[in-house]
Amino acid sequence: MSAVRSYEPLDVVRDASGLKEYLEAVEQRLDELFAGGFGAVDLAAQQALRAGGKRLRPLLAFLASPPGQAPPVAAGVAVELIHLASLVHDDVLDGAPVRRGAPSTWNEFGQQVALASGDRVFALAFSELAAEGRLRDLATLAETALALARGEALQRDLRFDPHTSVEAQLRLCSLKTGSLFSAACRLGAGGRRRSLGEYGLALGIAFQIVDDVLDCVGEAGETGKAPGTDLREGIPTLPLLFAAERDETVRAALAGGPREGVLERVAASGALERAHEIAHAYSRKACSYLNGDSRRRELEALAQAVVERRR
Ligand code: IPE
Ligand code: IPE
Ligand code: MG
Ligand code: MG
Repeated sequence: MSAVRSYEPLDVVRDASGLKEYLEAVEQRLDELFAGGFGAVDLAAQQALRAGGKRLRPLLAFLASPPGQAPPVAAGVAVELIHLASLVHDDVLDGAPVRRGAPSTWNEFGQQVALASGDRVFALAFSELAAEGRLRDLATLAETALALARGEALQRDLRFDPHTSVEAQLRLCSLKTGSLFSAACRLGAGGRRRSLGEYGLALGIAFQIVDDVLDCVGEAGETGKAPGTDLREGIPTLPLLFAAERDETVRAALAGGPREGVLERVAASGALERAHEIAHAYSRKACSYLNGDSRRRELEALAQAVVERRR
């Protein structure tokens, strides 16, 4: 069984009845899928899974599922697979050397294996859901995979532009992260509560903003990722944009200039606090969609944990 790294703020939802069994079933299926047959391509996926990860997207699928019914394991597996595939490809694009506290897939196996492995993992996500035979769920997953691809494309377009608008930056968060959080909720809910998709979208935006703050100040020992990747790659994240507004040196660094001492300037500019406030606002917005949901308490706790997280 894969080692799932513990995530303290999630303790509030961990006790939800049936959650432990659900996550174990998801984990077991993920393990089975990469049990061999495709050589290094499967081994790479297996190692990336076993390195850890918070399994937040299957958790969302569970919390969105109607109590009293069997929670959809295939949905949890499919959303974690889409996530994994996007990480494997994203690390190639970002040149990120570390993921989940271990060498990233391209760093360990080379770019060709990483690309092939990501492709296979994407395909497996669809095949896992197709086995369930629900066209609407497949359409949701396809729409999400397209949003992720559009997110990566938009990110390429915005690189090294310190004048990126806040609107474009939030659109990026929505495409590359909000879309999959939303899909996890919609697949979990089985189409019963559309508002849960809105909850997931807003929560995913909050989650990405916090990720962007952690990229500036997070501890590699906690996040499992190398800090400063966004600045190095010229990604105009919200905290970097806010700092660039006020500090010419940050602005030049975001446009591709010298980066020495720039993360300290970002921290000193008040940009991290401003970005965090916006993450809080999205977390509150997420909760505003929760009227009458049976797992409202857990979903609210999760929304809080997402903005307070350090990994
Ligand atoms: C990382 O997601 C990618 C982003 C959307 C910021 P997670 O922080 O959920 O990654 P794992 O699965 O826990 O490694
Ligand atoms: C999330 O953005 C990208 C994906 C949807 C894979 P990041 O590039 O910020 O994610 P990390 O920081 O590498 O996990
Ligand atoms: Mg990245
Ligand atoms: Mg990041």
